[in-house]
Amino acid sequence: LVRGGLERDLTGRHVVVSAGGTREPLDPVRFLGNRSSGKQGYALAATALARGARVTLVAANTALPDPAGADVVRVGTAMQLREAVLRAAEDADAVVMAAAVADFRPAEYATGKIKKVDGVEPAPIALVRNPDVLAEVSADRARGGQVVVGFAAETDDVLAHGRAKLARKGCDLLVVNEVGDGKAFGQDTNSAVLIGADGSEVHIADSPKEILADAIWDQVAARLPRAEP
Ligand code: CTP
Ligand code: CA
Repeated sequence: LVRGGLERDLTGRHVVVSAGGTREPLDPVRFLGNRSSGKQGYALAATALARGARVTLVAANTALPDPAGADVVRVGTAMQLREAVLRAAEDADAVVMAAAVADFRPAEYATGKIKKVDGVEPAPIALVRNPDVLAEVSADRARGGQVVVGFAAETDDVLAHGRAKLARKGCDLLVVNEVGDGKAFGQDTNSAVLIGADGSEVHIADSPKEILADAIWDQVAARLPRAEP
């Protein structure tokens, strides 16, 4: 099996990978977060580096060693992630949104720690929508021929949800993970279906995240316009 890592087929390409999970602060000590470890995004970054790419890794709240050679941009919130991804995407050949981006953030940020008061019920937490970074990048296509990849964790009718999401987001490729019962989050293996806007469907059985990452880059590489001489 000849892996792309031996081919260096991403030489001369700039790829942007987002990884981890955003945290949306309520007050100086609390946040709304999610269970994304960042492992899949880091595997994507390491694999792209091995295949010769220049890699910008936008890392949201990860506790993993920096992939050697990646340009790592650390972010906390969805708004910060958006800034970093849009900036890096300006000259990118591909953008892969592996990060779990919070759909909502608290409407208010308390600058002082929220305190409990005896006999007083806590106030409900009002939320507002965060921008959809993947949809924005897909609509922008800052660079001609830019390939945009999204991730989706779904339960139940995974493929139907994936097809609908791919169309809604406007990306070229959607990596659909089946979640629930300890699948995907924080695990070292993943099973996924890579669905393409062109109708393609590639099934990856329970595999290490590096194998899935290489399969994703295979799909990306196949969609990149020919490199300029
Ligand atoms: N995403 C994003 N910005 C957001 C939310 C999600 O860029 N505000 C990206 C994720 O990085 C991922 C893809 O969109 O690549 C799909 O995320 P997902 O949460 O599955 O999609 P949603 O449209 O938020 O749908 P759902 O209501 O199922 O959460
Ligand atoms: Ca979401």
